[in-house]
Formats: sequence, structure tokens, C-alpha cells
Amino acid sequence: MNVIDFIEDHQSAYLEELKDFLRIPSVSTKDEHKSDIARAASWLAERLRSAGIKNVEIVPTPNHPVVYGESVRLANRPTILLYGHYDVQPAEPLDLWTSPPFDPTVRDGNLYARGSADDKGQLHLHLKALEALYETEGELPINVKVVIEGEEEIGSKNLWAFVAENRHKLIADALVLSDTSMLAPGVPSITYGLRGLNYYQVEVTGPAQDLHSGVFGGAVPNPITILSRAIARLHDQNFRVTVPHFYDDVTKLSRSERKAIASLPWKEGAFRKIVGSRDLCGEKGFSVLERIWCRPTLELNGIWGGYTGKGEKTVIPSKAYAKISTRLVPHQDPKKIARLVEGHMRRLLPKSVMCKFDVLSAGKPWLADYRDEIFRMAITSLETGFGKKAVFIREGGSIPFVAQMHSLLKIPCVLLGFGLPDENAHAPNEHLSVENYFGGLRSVALFYKELGQNGARL
Ligand code: BES
Ligand code: MN
Ligand code: MN
Repeated sequence: MNVIDFIEDHQSAYLEELKDFLRIPSVSTKDEHKSDIARAASWLAERLRSAGIKNVEIVPTPNHPVVYGESVRLANRPTILLYGHYDVQPAEPLDLWTSPPFDPTVRDGNLYARGSADDKGQLHLHLKALEALYETEGELPINVKVVIEGEEEIGSKNLWAFVAENRHKLIADALVLSDTSMLAPGVPSITYGLRGLNYYQVEVTGPAQDLHSGVFGGAVPNPITILSRAIARLHDQNFRVTVPHFYDDVTKLSRSERKAIASLPWKEGAFRKIVGSRDLCGEKGFSVLERIWCRPTLELNGIWGGYTGKGEKTVIPSKAYAKISTRLVPHQDPKKIARLVEGHMRRLLPKSVMCKFDVLSAGKPWLADYRDEIFRMAITSLETGFGKKAVFIREGGSIPFVAQMHSLLKIPCVLLGFGLPDENAHAPNEHLSVENYFGGLRSVALFYKELGQNGARL
């Protein structure tokens, strides 16, 4: 039986199985979900086995396990390294979900659940594509190595040690993953660039303890005022980051890339609608897509301090805090940028306060060319799977593993994104288009089949 017909026949079974996966609340950041994390890992191990992958291990790490599987049996066939993550972001605030986050529900052609788009749904379709090929052809058409981590949403801290210990085992001809988005509905996309991410936390201390604002106010440094003023100075009126030398190593966009980006089938109106603010803003001299894909930014992710409860409390707080991140582009160096941001922040603060500056994580940007033969195969598979023209895009999000693996293994990285920018990843009512799930599943099955038939020379 043809694999596409086989997939067609199994649509409802696949969807039900994905719902089982989504029912497991594998939230990586919270200790109370340790057993759910373990359940998700063994659930996946079982699915790998039914996809014809005989060697499967659940590899413990100091935190959440890595699920590893391999089927390397065919000489003269390419080997792909498939990556995904089974952990999800916390679902809170729960009251903003129309249906509960871990009770997957289909409404209006979308599957709603935490992890549906990021990344369980997108990962699952690869496993089903492999399984469908295994079932219809009696064996997998390619060699596969699979790495599925449980710490992506908390910075992949233990993945790197796993990679370092297994670097010879992980050698492959290409890295394949689905953890990104399509440019728009009906536009299947391959992502060739991601921004890097540095995350910082700042703690500013004024008085040694909270003080009565009537008794002391006017004569002591208020850390909230001082931190706010520093934060307000981190951008200029053209939305450029004011950190000295922040842009020094940024690669200038080529005319040809700007032209290619400008000619993509993308509408600013649709973007504005998703954002829902009165107007957009951003760095002067760049288009919206250039701003979010190709330009570095500095964002405030959180700010707190003092009294935030009900009613009033007249207090000058001892401390004020902010969470700040920078998205990085080639060729910015995360360590260097962290030093620059910390130095600038410290210079912006007066001597009357103390500052603790922590770099919580640092990750490199990734940008690759897409001239290898494998990208042509991927585009053709997407176009057949969706019946639509496919495009190459960059994205603003970050997947640290991709940059790391690309520099370690120097192999093509094929990022086939099946999410959509308005599917609420990390937010309430996360969902995945059922149509895109199956479009992705068909495309990936065709891609693996094509790699088996014509990928020997990769
Ligand atoms: N899948 C996303 C990354 C992503 C989303 C890339 C959309 C491209 C388009 C991933 O799970 C994620 O959320 N990454 C984090 C960084 C990570 C280190 C916590 C991010 O981009 O903020
Ligand atoms: Mn993800
Ligand atoms: Mn994510």
C-alpha cells in the first residue's frame, strides 16, 4: 500500500494517539511534574519501537531524561538525526484556556492543548511518518537516530553533556526537526535561520530593608525608580539598543536577502491582527520581517518589586527586579554580548544602589545556506504533501541545539515547521491546525521515502 493512502486510512488513530501524548503534563520547569516527565519519556520510547526503531534507550541526566533511539541497518542509505522535545511550557494562567490545557480538544479544525504545536504535535508526526513507512515497506527506508530531550523549554542544560558523551554515535548526514512555524497558512516553510538567546536577571538593592515611605521617602534611593530609569535608557527613540558595541559584529543584510524576504507571501495586516496592539514599532530602517528575523533585540520580559497586592501599602522597597533577554543574530557572540549588557546596566545605575546581574542562559544564533541537495528534496516533499508552493524563511525564535549541532557535526539542518505564528505557543489556548499536522505528516513521509531512494550521495 502507498504510504500516503496508509496515512489517510490512519488519520483518526494518529490524532487519538497524539491526544494521549498531550494528556501527559510534561512541564519541565516544575518539580511536581517529574513523574509526568518520566511517563512522557517512556511513552515516546514505546512509540519509537513501534516505528521500527529497535534500539531505544531512556538516558538519565541530572534533570530530565533524553530519549534516544537508532535504527542503522542500511549501507548506502543516508542517516538522519531527528530531534524534538517532549517537555512543554507551564500552562498557567489556567482560567484563560477555553478547554483545559491537558485535555486535548479539537475545535474548528484545530487541536487545542499545551504542547500541541510546541513541540509534541510536530514531533509526533515524524514518528508516525516513520511508522507508516515501516508498516508499508516492511522496513525503514533510511537510517535514523533520534534524540528527544525534556529540557528544551528550560535551556537544554543537560543535553550538551549527552551530546558530548555520544558525539560519535550521533554522526549523521543531516539533522531534521520540526519545532518552528510556517510563514502563513497554506505556505509550507523551511527555516534557515534562528536568533540566539541570552537571558539575564537583574536585582537592584536600595535600602537594606523595606522602609516606611512617609518616614524615609525623599531621602533614600528607591530601587524601582532607579531600575526603571535604567531600563528606559536601554533603547533610543529609534528603537535601537543603546548598549555600546551591541551591533558591532552584526552581519549586514545583503540586498539579495532583503529582496527575497520582501517578496515572500506575507501580509503585514495579518501580523497586526495577531499582535492586536494599536500600532507596531521597531528599529528604524528595517521591515517587520527583518526586525524579527534578522536584527538583534533587547526585550524586557518581566519587572517587579515593592508592593503589588490589593489596596495600598506605603513602602520604599529594598529591592527591584527585572528579567531581560537579548535575541542575537550572526555574528554576535553570546558571551561578549552578556558582558556588554552587564557593563552597560551597571554604568546606568547610580552608586546609591547595589546590583546583582545574572546571566541565566546564553545561546548562539544560527544561519545556514540551503543549497544542499537535501533542501531540494525537502521542498519537493512539502509541495507534494501540502499541494502548495513552499518557501525558505528565517525566524526570530531560538533552538540552542540547532546551532550547537550544526557547528559540531557540520551537516545540513532541515527545519520543517508546521506550527503557525498565531497558534499561541507558550500562551493559553495553544493549538495546532489538524490540516497542517497531516500536511506535515505526508510531507515528512515523502521526504524520508525520497531520502531512501535518492539520498545515497548526500
Ligand atoms: N520551538 C520554540 C522555538 C521557536 C518557536 C523557533 C517559533 C522558531 C519559531 C522553542 O521551544 C522555544 O520556545 N525556544 C525558546 C528558547 C529556549 C532556550 C527556552 C525561545 O525561543 O524563547
Ligand atoms: Mn519548541
Ligand atoms: Mn517553546
